[in-house]
Amino acid sequence: MDTNPERVALVTGATSGIGRAAARRLGSIGWTVAVTGRDAERGRRTVEEVEETGGEATFLRADLADVETVAALADAVRERYDRLDVLVNNAACSPGERRLTDDGHERSFAVNHLAPYRLTHDLLPLLAASGPARVVTTASTLHRRGELDFDDLRLDSGYDPLDAYARSKLANVLFATELAARLGKGVTASVVHPGFVPGSGLYRDASLSVRTGTRLAARLPGVGTSVEDGAEGLVYAAVAPAAATRSGAYYEGTRPTEPDPRAHDERLRERLWTQSAAMVGVDPDWP
Ligand SMILES: NC(=O)c1ccc[n+]([C@@H]2O[C@H](COP(=O)([O-])OP(=O)(O)OC[C@H]3O[C@@H](n4cnc5c(N)ncnc54)[C@H](OP(=O)(O)O)[C@@H]3O)[C@@H](O)[C@H]2O)c1
Repeated sequence: MDTNPERVALVTGATSGIGRAAARRLGSIGWTVAVTGRDAERGRRTVEEVEETGGEATFLRADLADVETVAALADAVRERYDRLDVLVNNAACSPGERRLTDDGHERSFAVNHLAPYRLTHDLLPLLAASGPARVVTTASTLHRRGELDFDDLRLDSGYDPLDAYARSKLANVLFATELAARLGKGVTASVVHPGFVPGSGLYRDASLSVRTGTRLAARLPGVGTSVEDGAEGLVYAAVAPAAATRSGAYYEGTRPTEPDPRAHDERLRERLWTQSAAMVGVDPDWP
């Protein structure tokens, strides 16, 4: 583990669940951690918890559903820190009903995929200047059931909460794999499935059927991981020396695993990259 006290990480979605546990773990090895979320009270608690482990923390409030707020978050990070060693794109939602953001994007696609895309875009120069640096994105094994219809990214033709979530997680895997392929030396990208973590807050706003399924599955012996164990893969990808050389890796927990074969489809990745750039208002020709 890299325990250099000068290291700085940004963990999105650190006011709850796996992100909060990952922030605590990074704090416990002496890192400075910027934690984000919408809920200021939960943000304050996370800061306290990180500081109790011996690390330093700051809460930066941001609703990642809004592209301009994502850009403002990147500005705030650049203003506050002169380096960034790890960006953990972890925040996500699983809305039970279809909702469009003020920018007109389907909400789970916006928060779970477009926000990491724009945030990484805006923070990459700082990461590169601090290198060797890492971008870690939290996906899910559910990416395997995701379908991407580029002609219907708003899901106008129909909304299934689990399909929408799975689609956003497929986008996470495609994004991270494409990012790794595009990055030169100095910054690596990886993507992590943390396991099934029924004790996190993710299923709070999920549809009744997803909440019921989650509750039932959580009761099965051997199914389900604690929030603490769920953070293991993120922390591993963020700081373990062994992960430093594995850019483009997909981890289930700490185990490098083969993602869905579509992760190797360069045309699909390129199309998502280009369309995402247009949706968040940046030039697709990056990094
Ligand atoms: N739990 C599982 O079984 C499971 C399985 C596979 C993958 N994952 C992935 O693990 C990651 C963490 O999820 P979790 O299970 O720990 O869920 P969680 O406890 O609900 O945490 C989600 C985090 O995202 C933040 N967030 C949600 N919407 C946001 C928005 N619009 N703007 C800014 N922040 C927002 C939440 O903060 P605020 O409410 O303060 O905004 C919270 O800190 C996600 O990427 C999820 O897809 C989870």
